[in-house]
Amino acid sequence: MGEPRMAVNLAGLKLSNPLLPASGTYGYGKEYLPFCGPEVWGAVVTKGVSLERWPGNPPPRIYETPAGMLNAIGLQNPGVQHFMEEALPFLRQYQTPVIVNIVGKTIEEYAAVAEILSERSEVKAFELNISCPNVKEGGIAFGTCPESAAAVTKAVRQVTNLPLIVKLSPNVTDIVAIARSVEAAGADGLSLINTLLGMAIDVKKRQPVLANTMGGLSGPAIKPVALRMVWQVAQAVQIPIIGMGGITSTQAALEFIMAGATAVAIGTGLFKDPRLPTKIIAGIKGFLVEEGFQDINEIRGITWR
Ligand SMILES: Cc1cc2nc3c(=O)[nH]c(=O)nc-3n(C[C@H](O)[C@H](O)[C@H](O)COP(=O)(O)O)c2cc1C
Repeated sequence: MGEPRMAVNLAGLKLSNPLLPASGTYGYGKEYLPFCGPEVWGAVVTKGVSLERWPGNPPPRIYETPAGMLNAIGLQNPGVQHFMEEALPFLRQYQTPVIVNIVGKTIEEYAAVAEILSERSEVKAFELNISCPNVKEGGIAFGTCPESAAAVTKAVRQVTNLPLIVKLSPNVTDIVAIARSVEAAGADGLSLINTLLGMAIDVKKRQPVLANTMGGLSGPAIKPVALRMVWQVAQAVQIPIIGMGGITSTQAALEFIMAGATAVAIGTGLFKDPRLPTKIIAGIKGFLVEEGFQDINEIRGITWR
């Protein structure tokens, strides 16, 4: 038997393999060149890009927790102009499709970034991070109610023909309701999950560890929650899913695919082992051969299909 086929179709994008970096943990790829350059991945997902430069939160803004980490980076980024001048020329050198993660404080800001970047041939799809606070609605995150999640999706849908992937927040009661609402508003794919809201206290200082008080929990600690949400959403929508949350092994990546994910992303796991994607790709191929599958697409959603 030959090599198993690893290519997947993600909302019309042809990926050579189903592994992607999780937004914000891979920068634009340059720093990882000695370990896993853009050529390793099925697609590169950039860190969040906003219309103007965002300075981010003051330190301390990361903290290690049992089996995970808290971060309150505050979506620091140099803005879309700088992104086009610095990141795109670097990423253009590779065949790997580029998915740009967009962040915004208003619906108009998301749409403006998408409109500007739709003109650039290097950009193959967008991923909307809707966990950002909506400044016009008292700072409640767009992704926490079906209506505002749909509104931002619809606004971006109107300005671009590129595949539109919406990244869901897990800090909700009913993830399926949000997923359905975003699908109906025109999304071509879903990413889940973003980080879970958490905090830690420094008992000697009698104050929260993070300057921002709260931060996003990621890493293996959140994997069962993420897997459950992917499993629920995959059965409720027709559009493909990028599954993520605590993937640090071949076994974990396979679990997400068997729960119904078309692709999987690695975030916090990269900080511990930046060679992880290469190992997991080899691991998945080995599993498929051992278990008698010829194609990765045969195991997607196999737990419920
Ligand atoms: C340091 C850091 C920065 C992140 N920045 C972003 C971002 O800019 N946009 C976004 O949509 N998600 C961002 N995330 C969330 C990750 O993409 C991912 O959804 C989450 O960390 C769960 O995956 P993991 O457990 O493999 O890290 C960030 C996560 C971390 C740890």
